Amino acid sequence: MSVSTIQKMNPKMLVSDIANFLDCSVPNIYNKLKSIEKEHIIEKRKSYINHDIARELFKFKDVPKKVISVQTPKGGVGKTTITREVAVRSSLYGKKVLIIDIDHQGNLTNSFGIQGEKHSSFYQVLKGDINIKESIINVLPGIDIIASNLKNSYIDDFMLQNTVNINKVFRKHINKILDCYDIIIFDCPPSNSRCVSSANVCADLIAIPIIPDDFSIDGLKMIINRIQMLNEEFDSTTDYKIIINRFDARTKASLRITSSLINDPILGEKCFENYIGINQDFTNYRMDGLSIFDAVRQSKCCEDIDKLTQEILGISNG
Ligand SMILES: Nc1ncnc2c1ncn2[C@@H]1O[C@H](COP(=O)(O)OP(=O)(O)OP(=O)(O)O)[C@@H](O)[C@H]1O
Ligand SMILES: [Mg+2]
Repeated sequence: MSVSTIQKMNPKMLVSDIANFLDCSVPNIYNKLKSIEKEHIIEKRKSYINHDIARELFKFKDVPKKVISVQTPKGGVGKTTITREVAVRSSLYGKKVLIIDIDHQGNLTNSFGIQGEKHSSFYQVLKGDINIKESIINVLPGIDIIASNLKNSYIDDFMLQNTVNINKVFRKHINKILDCYDIIIFDCPPSNSRCVSSANVCADLIAIPIIPDDFSIDGLKMIINRIQMLNEEFDSTTDYKIIINRFDARTKASLRITSSLINDPILGEKCFENYIGINQDFTNYRMDGLSIFDAVRQSKCCEDIDKLTQEILGISNG
């Protein structure tokens, strides 16, 4: 099912960004596009391409398929924002992305202009009311979503009542669509529920956003203990990585907490190299129903998300 027609979004990969990424000149990119019979688009004197052209242009080798769970029980730290913008940026590298909103708040779903209650949610997939393939909505070229609504708050009850195996319940459905996507991202609710544990066990990587403030490290240790517990219980090897979000070099808390994190002998290894700086554009664009990558003149936050996306996709070396 497609709802692309109601989308205002038109995410862009600037030709200058491609030139930087591929380490060649802009005219060189125009030649590359010509050689695959594609043309860049021009708006406000800036050239860009979209997902469809990117899919033809970028030919990545050996990029493993990845299921990612964006999780932390702490609320409001940027799980949904990062899921959404990394998904958009991945699609601009030509990747096919599925995002699964399992947060009954449905913020991710709404941010794509979708009314979750009009669509099936992952709860209905788990219950067997609908096949996972039928629950998928296309929102943008390269981006599909399984929408969320309040019914997702029953996932835990369903799992308890049916004594469902945490380590198999999500995987069974994901396996049916794994081949259709380059990357699948779960946007989790802020909790340690069975639903979140199931997403974690199903994932290849758990991405944990934190805001470097006074309270973040304690919460972080709790999450990591839980991941280790789940890995032991289910004999799994799901890895985790920490995303430093809302980094603000003007505040002592940001500088101190970030420095103690990256210098920690265990946690330091587990941080993504690229931080996401504090930037009002994230909120401003979302409130206009847009992604930060809709802008023709892109701001620092685009660079931050771009670098993080490259790390997540494992394509940093071009
Ligand atoms: N780097 C950033 N700079 C400025 N604002 C940000 C940044 N990241 C996220 N925000 C804003 O912070 C608010 C909370 O972000 P978001 O909804 O992504 O958090 P969340 O972890 O998904 O919340 P919840 O736990 O409720 O699901 C939003 O208004 C978002 O636009
Ligand atoms: Mg959220």
